[in-house]
Amino acid sequence: MNSSFESARRQWTSLGADDPLWAVLSDPAKKGGKWNMEEFLATGESDVSRFVGFLRKHAHLSPPLGDVLDFGCGVGRLSRAWASRAKSVTGVDVAPTMIQMAEKVLREFPNARVCVNVENNLRQFSDKSFDVVASYITIQHIPPAAALTYLSELCRLLRPGGVLIFQAITERKPGDWKGWLGDWFPWLVEIHHRLIKGFRVFVTPEKSIFRLMQSMAMETVAIEEDPGAGKNVTSRIFIFRKR
Ligand SMILES: C[S@@+](CC[C@H](N)C(=O)[O-])C[C@H]1O[C@@H](n2cnc3c(N)ncnc32)[C@H](O)[C@@H]1O
Repeated sequence: MNSSFESARRQWTSLGADDPLWAVLSDPAKKGGKWNMEEFLATGESDVSRFVGFLRKHAHLSPPLGDVLDFGCGVGRLSRAWASRAKSVTGVDVAPTMIQMAEKVLREFPNARVCVNVENNLRQFSDKSFDVVASYITIQHIPPAAALTYLSELCRLLRPGGVLIFQAITERKPGDWKGWLGDWFPWLVEIHHRLIKGFRVFVTPEKSIFRLMQSMAMETVAIEEDPGAGKNVTSRIFIFRKR
């Protein structure tokens, strides 16, 4: 098994065991189990209603959606909101601890299922099995080469005419000193994150995303700015459609 995948699995499994809601939405005021579940889930509703707004506006797609995949579903914050707008939702995450909690969060949604991602690919899913593939604040935690591999897998899983909607960080701003430090001295930051149980965010350049999408027969539908990753980085929501 690939060592960076193994280390991501270890790190997210441990975050999911210690403080899963904060690991998903790391508001410093909510560290140490301080998220209220209702408030936390309301953020998922509001994020998904924003994404559905983009799908409606740019891709002429409205609920009820077909089969949706939520890549990096965490504790099911967004899967839950997708479930009430789709025929089915499948959430997949690298951390078994996150998936255990997602099972509880999605208990009342018979059209939702979740599973653990056990490899650094998505071979557990067949080609062309989803109408919408979504991923939020997940690609940003995967080093760029692996992130592009996952994005190509997400394209493979879409049916023709299906839509991919995902968020990625495309640039660091000068104020992101921790991020720059991580790019220059990854080992130092790795040790720091192990000690404080935090996580790194990675930049996946827009140019590489477009090059990949072109090679996967994906048509660009729209790009929207995203405030979700903080003011020190450029975070965007990309929407592509499979030809
Ligand atoms: C910040 S959380 C976001 C969770 C969810 N998307 C949300 O917005 O509520 C990032 C999630 O990505 C998952 N993740 C990280 N690397 C992954 C990988 N290679 N495959 C699947 N999930 C991954 C983590 O376990 C974590 O649950």
